[in-house]
Amino acid sequence: MKFFIDTADLAEIRDLAATGLVDGVTTNPSLVAKTGRQFLDVVREICAVVPGPVSAEVTATDTATMLAEGRKLAKIAKNVTVKVPLTPDGLKACKVLSSEGTMVNVTLCFSSAQAILAAKAGASFISPFVGRLDDIGQSGMELIREIVEIYRNYPHFKTEVLVASIRSPMHVTEAARMGAHVGTLPPAVLRQMFAHPLTEKGLATFLADWKKTGQSILADGEKVAAE
Ligand code: E4P
Repeated sequence: MKFFIDTADLAEIRDLAATGLVDGVTTNPSLVAKTGRQFLDVVREICAVVPGPVSAEVTATDTATMLAEGRKLAKIAKNVTVKVPLTPDGLKACKVLSSEGTMVNVTLCFSSAQAILAAKAGASFISPFVGRLDDIGQSGMELIREIVEIYRNYPHFKTEVLVASIRSPMHVTEAARMGAHVGTLPPAVLRQMFAHPLTEKGLATFLADWKKTGQSILADGEKVAAE
């Protein structure tokens, strides 16, 4: 399963990219607005930090303007993935941009019917929003199960299921069990995934016992190379 991080915050992206676990980044207009920075600069900088797909969303609602925006975004860097909303105009733009060799992420997917349309439009990624479905009392994970099952029935669909609106590590593990290709994780959720109280407790015990031996693996003055 690939991990994208769902943020436009460069400091967070640099910090988490250093783990070696980040395969891509997703942004959206709300995340960009939070940074208070110029969108195009932010996209350029993220693309330089993370070599994998970086989703940058168009803000037009008609196909012609979406195409103009998408082409401009795609010129920023090879790894830009143009994000379009799941609307008739968005899917028309998806089809054209995909045929030009640009990766497209179709966002705001809330049904498996919509996911079928995105695959037929040649999307590289479909983004079903699990948390927002849970919020209205529907099962976000059930939607992931349906889309993964449907796409498996049609091996010529090349669209990857990118689980979005993730709220907890459980969303990530359930999506992985279902075989979703990608999860886009808020930074806090990725950090939560490292944590387990027994890991911390066990490590404290090991270190305390090691201290009693009076030994050290590295001799005095032995160099520690920079990461
Ligand atoms: C996905 O690409 C979206 O940016 C994101 O996952 C939306 O998540 P939210 O529902 O937490 O805003």
